[in-house]
Amino acid sequence: KNGLQVAIDGPASAGKSTVAKLVAKQFNYVYCDTGAMYRAITLKALQAGVSLDNVDEISKIVKSSKITFAPSNDGQRVFIDGDEITQEIRQEDVTNSVSAVAAIADVRKELSDQQKQIALNGGIVMDGRDIGSTVLPDAEVKIFLVASVEERAQRRYKENIQKGINTPLDELQLEIEARDYKDSHRKISPLTKAKDAIEIDTTSLSIEEVVSEIAKVVKNKL
Ligand code: C5P
Repeated sequence: KNGLQVAIDGPASAGKSTVAKLVAKQFNYVYCDTGAMYRAITLKALQAGVSLDNVDEISKIVKSSKITFAPSNDGQRVFIDGDEITQEIRQEDVTNSVSAVAAIADVRKELSDQQKQIALNGGIVMDGRDIGSTVLPDAEVKIFLVASVEERAQRRYKENIQKGINTPLDELQLEIEARDYKDSHRKISPLTKAKDAIEIDTTSLSIEEVVSEIAKVVKNKL
């Protein structure tokens, strides 16, 4: 193996991707955003006009689609069947539909098989909801990032303003709470803290503080 498996899980907007990218950079590891994979399938279903409760059709989509990544300056570009969808998968309609798609058994089976494959040789920082609990149960480093819902809504709000999106703060908070509820209550591999995961509450920590805390854990396992 070329390096460790680092699993970073937690609820929506807890800062997982921001710190995961920085940790990956520091150790020269590959970064894999598993949420982007669920978002990619959701986008394709929405674009095809497939209803979110059409489990058979969405299962067909996940089995016949090829999701690929390419590194970029600020993380990674995402493609489905060769078409770039890096921006599109962040649209609000995708965000508000993704939990339903991610609850489908075939979708989880197919994408988690792909994720295991990506992480096989180590040297990987993977973020998501079920990485430490299900996808990489033997990961050497498991982190569970949390933050108060108010703080998470606030962070998302600031990000949105920079992108020119003006969703009100209270609406964002409701969306985050709804998504966490669905992700934590689905039958298959719900959002949960793995028994051996280290919990970090980022509510009053800076990005640098969170990254250095995780880096310490990684260094201890090297
Ligand atoms: O991380 P992100 O917010 O982009 O994830 C989008 C959605 O994808 C989550 O709300 C969840 O429904 C799903 N997801 C998942 N398992 C993962 C990663 C994401 O179910 N490992």
